[in-house]
Amino acid sequence: MVKPINLAILISGRGSNLQSIIDACAEKQFPARIELVISNEPDAFGIERAKTAGIKTEIIHHKSYPSRREFEEALSKSLENHTIDLICLAGFMRVLTPDFVSKWEGRMLNIHPSLLPAYPGLHTHERVLAAGEKESGCTIHFVTPGLDEGPTLIQKRVPVVGNDTPDTLAARILEQEHIAYPEAIRLIALGKVTYGKEQVEILPAAPYTPPQKSDPAAIVPTIAPKIETKSQPKPAESLKETSMSHHHTDNAPDQSAIKEADAIWGYFTKAAAITVVGVAVILLLMAATLL
Ligand code: GRF
Repeated sequence: MVKPINLAILISGRGSNLQSIIDACAEKQFPARIELVISNEPDAFGIERAKTAGIKTEIIHHKSYPSRREFEEALSKSLENHTIDLICLAGFMRVLTPDFVSKWEGRMLNIHPSLLPAYPGLHTHERVLAAGEKESGCTIHFVTPGLDEGPTLIQKRVPVVGNDTPDTLAARILEQEHIAYPEAIRLIALGKVTYGKEQVEILPAAPYTPPQKSDPAAIVPTIAPKIETKSQPKPAESLKETSMSHHHTDNAPDQSAIKEADAIWGYFTKAAAITVVGVAVILLLMAATLL
């Protein structure tokens, strides 16, 4: 068994990809562990997931800093206070500057819900459906300064079906995201990946089997992400093992609590939407009556 690498996961919201990594790391043979979860949003549900799993968390709220540079300095300080081998952006909704990205070149991954280079940026699923694509998917890539431009590590494809909506397509892709991210981390942790600015080389590895306990339905909640992020690099120094502690997360996340919280969150957002529509209809009726 190789030494597990230390991960920092950066999130902004519901954290279902974070959950898939938590679940993977809970497997004894998985060659990575999560050292730290950072959110730029104080109320990100992913923070609860991390706490449930006994992982250190930090909130670095971007609005508490007068500039992007100062926000990123706080981010760097937090990361440097830990031994981090790989940063995983998992629904992290802040664009990172080239300065920040260059510090982590070859050691920072992002996930994007399309088959990059197709459909970078926002509103991916809407654009895929509008274009009449027959398939879509997700991409795990190294972060470079351009938006969703870094070299690809892993892609997973899914079909687009006739009655797809952005939500149904997003859900189908998200299931694959939850496999792809742990798979990408594992390849790096096993030393199978050589980073290059234009492309990465991947040595053969035994196939990755995701943990069965992760019920995708339990970790696919309802909050839509707002933005996709990016960052960048400089010559890879350490995709290899670095010093790290070996402790494994034995306290597996309480899936039922997470499932319940996801469900409550879903009901809440639906109820809020219905209320807004209802009030709008009543106002329209009142206006029509007055006229
Ligand atoms: C995912 O669809 C990811 O591809 C995109 O943002 C979403 C994050 O979802 N970058 P979650 O917070 O991991 O549930």
